[in-house]
Amino acid sequence: MTIEYLADRCEFVPILAQGLFREWGHLRAGDTVKDQAARIQRSCGHSEIPTAFVAAAGDQVLGCAMLVEHDMSTRPELSPWLAGVFVPCEHRRRGIGATLVERVVLEARALGEPRLYLYTPGPGTLYSRLGWSVVERTYYRPLWGEQELTIMELATNAR
Ligand SMILES: CC(C)(COP(=O)(O)OP(=O)(O)OC[C@H]1O[C@@H](n2cnc3c(N)ncnc32)[C@H](O)[C@@H]1OP(=O)(O)O)[C@@H](O)C(=O)NCCC(=O)NCCS
Repeated sequence: MTIEYLADRCEFVPILAQGLFREWGHLRAGDTVKDQAARIQRSCGHSEIPTAFVAAAGDQVLGCAMLVEHDMSTRPELSPWLAGVFVPCEHRRRGIGATLVERVVLEARALGEPRLYLYTPGPGTLYSRLGWSVVERTYYRPLWGEQELTIMELATNAR
């Protein structure tokens, strides 16, 4: 498995857009796979924010994760964010998600970002195991309505 900048593997954008749309497309009324692909494309930087990483085995996509400036319009004071962590169902529970998260953390550290944030609708056990801690439980009503979310943070040890 390789972890690469998605900017260097743009051929994967359409398939990732389909996966992310299946997972989260229902959150944005009127959203389309094309809109999702355009959002991913806009996050394809190199050694900058935003940036996106793809896990691959040859021409097979195994997952992705992004580093973005903002992911929650209600928390503009927090930045940057780990976002869009996604592994297709058939490749889950093999450590790919954790590897992608760690790659984003390394990138944030290399860019001199002392802290990194994320939000999750789940229990966040994947992230706790990787050293993340809970900042607060909250709502992000513009996107998630009444679903409770957890904001988590990690010190990247950037110097
Ligand atoms: C969340 C998600 C990215 C995790 O991806 P993943 O590749 O399965 O992640 P990992 O394999 O690193 O860890 C997942 C679990 O597999 C376990 N695992 C990892 N390697 C394993 C192995 N070799 N054998 C058995 N279990 C393993 C981990 O311990 C972890 O267990 P937990 O769920 O009890 O904490 C994936 O489930 C996904 O895309 N979900 C839908 C989108 C989503 O919710 N994204 C996150 C938004 S915050």
